[in-house]
Amino acid sequence: TTLSNDPVRALAHTNIALIKYWGKKDEQLIIPYTSSLSLTLDQFYTETSVRFDQSLSADKVEIDGAAVSGKSWQRVHDFLTVVRQLAGINAAAEVISLNHVPIAAGLASSASAFAALAAAASRAAGLQLASKDLSRLARRGSGSACRSIFGGFVEWQRGHDDTDSYASPLQQTGLKDISVIALTVESKPKSISSREGMNRSVTTSPYYPTWVNVAQNDLVDIKLAIAANDFTKFGTISELNAMRMHALTLSAAPDFMYFNGETLTAMNLVKRLRHQGIECYYTIDAGPNVKVICQQANKPQIVDAFTKLLGPKRVTTLKAGPGVQYL
Ligand code: PMV
Repeated sequence: TTLSNDPVRALAHTNIALIKYWGKKDEQLIIPYTSSLSLTLDQFYTETSVRFDQSLSADKVEIDGAAVSGKSWQRVHDFLTVVRQLAGINAAAEVISLNHVPIAAGLASSASAFAALAAAASRAAGLQLASKDLSRLARRGSGSACRSIFGGFVEWQRGHDDTDSYASPLQQTGLKDISVIALTVESKPKSISSREGMNRSVTTSPYYPTWVNVAQNDLVDIKLAIAANDFTKFGTISELNAMRMHALTLSAAPDFMYFNGETLTAMNLVKRLRHQGIECYYTIDAGPNVKVICQQANKPQIVDAFTKLLGPKRVTTLKAGPGVQYL
């Protein structure tokens, strides 16, 4: 392949899982035990430029203005190696990446990062991948990244191997009016990575086999709720599924927990608002931050309640966002 030296730039948004991915059947290829479903968000995104250059002696990686080394460099390097193998090239690359996340949001995500990297690196390497194959590639960087290739509601079909484990936009077209209120309860990096947390849950939680069945049913039910435009059912399943995922951390050995005191305070406030007739639900990933799901009509009251609790800088309102784009 003859490589052009021009950088290729791509942009991808983060996504929030409503039916969680938690556990790998294949650690190397990142094949999950269960399918998952997410909503791609607007506002939080990663912009990445990649250039392969025969004259570079090693991959150069810059994230948010700083040169990267160590573990983070290794992760990007390993991903670029997958791209090089696919494209049949051996040149090193220069990667420049910027995360656009509101100050202190604590929501920088590997999903938007690897989706943008997959898009930019594959094209810079001379590949023209169909979106399905781009999703498969992004999955190799971080599982949840395979869903950030697409906008709106996205389903990741677990598949069996590298060829059939990828995401696609949901066919069901209901529930257009969803808002996500992201609450920053802590902006420090998490103590137990999702990789380690999943691994420990799979290998030590006695409930893991049950999760595999339950998550499958939750996914069927949430798709029915979306198709039926049933927000109450949608929110109820989302909240339950998140708690079922976190039950795997509480039941692992040694046990661990992603919540802190403020996480619990936010969860209680969601329940209190709901009790008052202001409909909202929460979901939580592998960290203490909480995302509140609601519809437009109730948003001002919910934002108001959380702003009183946390202050305005720690409350960000989001909507559905688009899939990966080239710039
Ligand atoms: O893609 P990873 O390895 O960062 O794992 C994501 C795990 C969760 O965010 C907790 C759930 C999900 O489906 O995104």
